[in-house]
Amino acid sequence: LKQTFLEELKSVRNLADLSNIKVKYLGKKGIITSDLKSLSKVPPEERPLLGKRINEIKQFIETELDLQESRLKHEELKRQLLSESLDITLSGKFIPFGTLHPINKVLSEVTEIFIKMGFSVEEGPEVELDYYNFEALNIPRDHPARDMQDTFYISDDIVLRTHTSPVQIRVMEKRKPPVRFIAPGKVYRCDADITHTPMFHQVEGLMVDKGITFSNLKGVLEAFLHQMFGENIPVRFRPSFFPFTEPSAEVDIGCILCNGAGCRVCKTSGWLEIMGAGMVNPRVFEYVGYDPEEYSGFAFGMGIERIAMLKYSIDDIRLFFENDIRFLKQF
Ligand code: PHE
Repeated sequence: LKQTFLEELKSVRNLADLSNIKVKYLGKKGIITSDLKSLSKVPPEERPLLGKRINEIKQFIETELDLQESRLKHEELKRQLLSESLDITLSGKFIPFGTLHPINKVLSEVTEIFIKMGFSVEEGPEVELDYYNFEALNIPRDHPARDMQDTFYISDDIVLRTHTSPVQIRVMEKRKPPVRFIAPGKVYRCDADITHTPMFHQVEGLMVDKGITFSNLKGVLEAFLHQMFGENIPVRFRPSFFPFTEPSAEVDIGCILCNGAGCRVCKTSGWLEIMGAGMVNPRVFEYVGYDPEEYSGFAFGMGIERIAMLKYSIDDIRLFFENDIRFLKQF
């Protein structure tokens, strides 16, 4: 029996063969098992000796099978490792990295500068009530200033916000002064020509406390512009009008376009308007329940596309939204 077993064991090629032999000898109906069962038919005096022999063979078979099993498993593992091994000399696939959109880059740069000056960051909805976008900002229904803002209307009293100024109202409604925050976000206007896009970005700013003056406004905005464009950039405040500020100003910076070949003054004029600003109109304070006798403040709103165009010498605003990879990957 031992001999036949060993012969059979030699022909084993894999774990499946091995399991077949195991069943054949040690299984429920296997040779050894039935030998042990048939011991009962042997005369009692022969049983101990025969039993001992069969058990010896059983143990021998078990040991041999175990040995063979670990050998086969080892070989299998070796084969597997070989087939799965990596060829580290193979050159890799190039996976290109994306870049931040220039608008997002400028937005986070602007935000950083104001955070350093102690401003917090607020957000408001892009689909806005007429009340917040116009009414509470002292722009009543028949006010000509509504024509200035070519508004996308959703319904009679719901609009796509035309500026980030409604966030001023929303924040003042829920907080008592002092407040000092900026509110970056998307705004929508339907004036259609090549220098305007129907959606663009603004950063609103508001600072309200006791004794805030126009000097604070100038100081904060100049500090911002100098950090954004460098100490040497010319800054100009021009008188202007907004229903929600009084007095109002528009802020220009000297428009200089630079590229590898050098810098030049912009075609249109030497100045580029990038911001509206002013002292918060007392009527606005009345809408939010602030006492205009006790508090004063300034507000500003800047166009991010304009700032990005200056910063990166981009001459066409439409480039930002065409998503041409060749354009985007330059930033
Ligand atoms: N909301 C104005 C605009 O969109 C900008 C502005 C903001 C002006 C705050 C004054 C104060 O043009």
